Amino acid sequence: MSSESLDAGAMPSTPVDVKPSRRIVYRHALPIRIMHWINVVALTLMFLSGLQIFNAHPRLYWGNRSDEGTAILALGARQDAAGNLQGVTRIGKHEFNTTGVLGVSNGEDGSAQMRGFPSWLTVPGPQWLAMGRRWHFFFAWVFVLNGLCFVGYAAATRHLQRDLWPTGADWRGIGRSVVDHLRFKHPHGEEALRYNILQRLAYLTVIFVFGVGIVLMGLAMSPRMDAVLSPLVEAVGGRQSARTIHFIIAWGFVAFVLIHLFEVLITGVFNQLRGMITGYYAIDATPAAPPPPDGEAPDTSGPSEDRPHD
Ligand code: HEM
Repeated sequence: MSSESLDAGAMPSTPVDVKPSRRIVYRHALPIRIMHWINVVALTLMFLSGLQIFNAHPRLYWGNRSDEGTAILALGARQDAAGNLQGVTRIGKHEFNTTGVLGVSNGEDGSAQMRGFPSWLTVPGPQWLAMGRRWHFFFAWVFVLNGLCFVGYAAATRHLQRDLWPTGADWRGIGRSVVDHLRFKHPHGEEALRYNILQRLAYLTVIFVFGVGIVLMGLAMSPRMDAVLSPLVEAVGGRQSARTIHFIIAWGFVAFVLIHLFEVLITGVFNQLRGMITGYYAIDATPAAPPPPDGEAPDTSGPSEDRPHD
């Protein structure tokens, strides 16, 4: 029972329908914002050029070898009874007709072409392995240097330890956080200022598991580096396994981004984007309490400092 219903007969002394006021706080420091958007551009171009490279041999294997018939994933094509090209995706022993998207799709001139991923998902659009590799390796440098700067800056300013690393209380509240997310219930006011446990775990996973993993697996595929990294190549089962893991992590990034964008959308897209672009973010703040009667000390408890997530 709420306290309002206990006092049902009494006239409230202050209006109850007062809308909470908005308070603007400085949420994201400039270097974090710059590095975040550099990462978005680099990752997008690496993904699209990576699919271009994949298309040169649109099959994945496990182990060290790429023998005919042993692919665990294959994007291919065949002719149907009427002589039309049909796109076929095979995962293990299961085959799917994926005409129009995977295996066979329309090229830029509108004609059906045999290619793994369609031209609208690759950089450059037409099949051009050498150019795809140039884009991929250029943005790989951007991604790695930007990632190192991000981790260095976040550790030096304690953003990593304070805002991203989960606290004991965060771990204890993980069940509640999962339930709240499933109900699309999100924190408001001051509480919205700190990352929740699922956000922290997601960010740490993309940075330290996906980020580090995809770079190591990329290096493990490189003909020069796989000699230096041979223990790692062996640990994952071979160069073909490294390529498969690299591909899976790339799609892990896509899954993260889709969830990330969904969360941004449902928690106020304009406010969130403004936060990540200008640094300023609005939170609900209950109207200021009336001044205390003469002689009483003002209440100074509660959060007072607006500290950005440096
Ligand atoms: C168009 C795509 C994207 C948009 C619109 C976007 C938007 C945002 C926003 C609004 C925040 C702040 C969330 C908050 O304060 O609660 C954020 C944080 C973050 N985003 Fe993104 N994001 C995008 C893509 C990505 C990608 C591709 C990655 C990496 C794979 C990424 C990784 C992160 C990380 C790690 C943070 C936490 C930053 C920190 O405080 O250290 N985002 N993003």
